[in-house]
Amino acid sequence: MEPVLWFTGLSGSGKSTLAHEVEEALHIIGCHTFVFDGDNVRHGLCSDLGFSEVDRAENIRRIGEMVHLFTQAGVLSLTAFISPFMKDRQRIREMFSANDFIEVYCKCSIEICEQRDKKGLYKLARAGEIKDFTGISSPYEEPENAELVINTGEQSLKESVEAVINTLRSVGVIQANT
Ligand code: ADX
Repeated sequence: MEPVLWFTGLSGSGKSTLAHEVEEALHIIGCHTFVFDGDNVRHGLCSDLGFSEVDRAENIRRIGEMVHLFTQAGVLSLTAFISPFMKDRQRIREMFSANDFIEVYCKCSIEICEQRDKKGLYKLARAGEIKDFTGISSPYEEPENAELVINTGEQSLKESVEAVINTLRSVGVIQANT
């Protein structure tokens, strides 16, 4: 059984970028990994789902089940989904044993996410062209017991990767001297 690194945070908070960068660092030390994010899940397995509270819950439920199987198959899994609702994240946490669900909150203010607006979605959400947009017209419930909180609006990507790797060392997922 391998753990899951569960990245959560607003759209544009850097979850996917950080997950992929952590994956690179893990490859170097020989870990077998996979990153699940909107690019490979929202277009396929969950392409029938939208962004209502019910659809997001189902999105996260399916991802949780899938990732649980991957971790059982020996793949250190990294997920990068907004996963805005505490109860949905909690349900996934309960599927794993204590050290195998590592929640990483990519904490970044809505102002910074909106300034970045890489996909132009905040602009559309403000214009009312996208409804139920997280942080604007749909809530984001901040984690209260995340294993790691990273200020992705302030810290460099390198510092953020180091923080994740250090957490993996401290919970014994990777050797202290690697
Ligand atoms: S989640 O809430 O169900 O976890 P998920 O991470 O899969 O969301 O998808 C979020 C991504 O979908 C965003 O980064 C953004 O690119 C896109 N998106 C499209 N519509 C919305 C919306 N209404 N709210 C948030 N993200 C949206």
